[in-house]
Amino acid sequence: MSVERTFVAIKPDGVERGLIGEIIGRFEKRGLKLVGLKLMKLSPEKAQEHYGEHKGKPFFDGLVSFITSGPIVAMVWEGNGAITLARNVIGATNPNAAAPGSIRGDLAVNIGRNVVHGSDGPESAKREISIFFADSEILPEWPRSIDKWVSE
Ligand code: RTP
Ligand code: MG
Repeated sequence: MSVERTFVAIKPDGVERGLIGEIIGRFEKRGLKLVGLKLMKLSPEKAQEHYGEHKGKPFFDGLVSFITSGPIVAMVWEGNGAITLARNVIGATNPNAAAPGSIRGDLAVNIGRNVVHGSDGPESAKREISIFFADSEILPEWPRSIDKWVSE
């Protein structure tokens, strides 16, 4: 499994509910490495770009207005197979179907308030990271002291 980078965001509901530390902790404890982090308010233009694949769907306008309604935490996480791994840490889109132990399965009840976003594949990871981060805002490969205990 190759080293990948994925984009993860704590949505406004996660920030408002005081879940930033809880959510970051779950990715840290799993073994992923944080290489980019910022607290920000998303513009409608960037939100529409980020969720472009959903344009025209009935929930699109509500999704854009929700994601721009308050601060979000934008992050880049790195690790072996990080994209799928982060999606598994996050859980199914609808919290009703999300497995216990996943973020959505433990911390959310409603599809429109599912507290966190994660890229769904290599192309979207690349695209989304570039929407939220300049290259200079992401750490180059850095040897974290615990890496040898996370991956052989
Ligand atoms: P995300 O992009 O936020 O990580 O979520 P996802 O991949 O699990 O789900 P996706 O299909 O990309 O949908 C993006 C977000 O739109 C909202 N949604 N609402 N009411 C609905 O039927 C509906 N479907 C999707 C959710 O907040 C979902 O996270
Ligand atoms: Mg998605």
